[in-house]
Amino acid sequence: MEVIIQKDAQAATDLTARLICDAVQSKKDSVLGLATGRTMENLYSNIVKRYQAGEADFSRCATFNLDEYVGLAAEHTQSYRYYMNDLLFSKININLEETYLPNGVAPDLAEACQQYENKILDKGGIDIQLLGIGNTGHIGFNEPLSSLASRTREKALAPITLEQNGPLFDDPAEMPRRALTMGVGTILDAKKIILLATGKSKAKILAKAVEGPITSMISASALQLHPHCVIICDEDAAEELE
Ligand code: F6R
Repeated sequence: MEVIIQKDAQAATDLTARLICDAVQSKKDSVLGLATGRTMENLYSNIVKRYQAGEADFSRCATFNLDEYVGLAAEHTQSYRYYMNDLLFSKININLEETYLPNGVAPDLAEACQQYENKILDKGGIDIQLLGIGNTGHIGFNEPLSSLASRTREKALAPITLEQNGPLFDDPAEMPRRALTMGVGTILDAKKIILLATGKSKAKILAKAVEGPITSMISASALQLHPHCVIICDEDAAEELE
């Protein structure tokens, strides 16, 4: 695991965007694993600027998002499909039919999760997986006690995650209590992983993930097992690292 510390959030975001655009330029049919959340908002606007400047061509890429809320259809403004269309897919030259998210409104959620795993395999696996880190140490929605071998499945969200994301809903009580998420094992299968963490609120959990024991209590600690994982953070998020 490599840790790259940048002076501030903008520099960390800029470096992450550059690495993703460079990867897409060197492999035009890249399969990207994508995340949502507040940290990614600035990243996606940086990628859009680079796309507009001719630095990346997404026309042959496919994307797989980490997660989606159970019960939220694409039109719901808090669904991750809506977020991705709004912040990234509608602003770059990606083929929307090659952008995949778990289907949180499928009649059979277990079946939808299995199909998601199959689709990732059909596309040859994920070349670069982008991650954020939640306050519970989750990657995707792999809350504490997720098996390190877990695959895409339905997961109950931890109370800390409800607190973290509830304010994004008009009425926090409307936030779904469950989500579909790639498993830790699914994430570890990616050929390369980049985790972006910015801000002081991430400092404690990032130190546990990077320097603590590998434990299912902190899913992000499993990234220590990955041979090509880069953590990109700003000085604030790096504050508790040894
Ligand atoms: C979202 C996801 C989550 C977030 C994490 C951090 O698709 O996978 O793991 O990356 O909750 O969220 P922010 O960036 O809002 O702090």
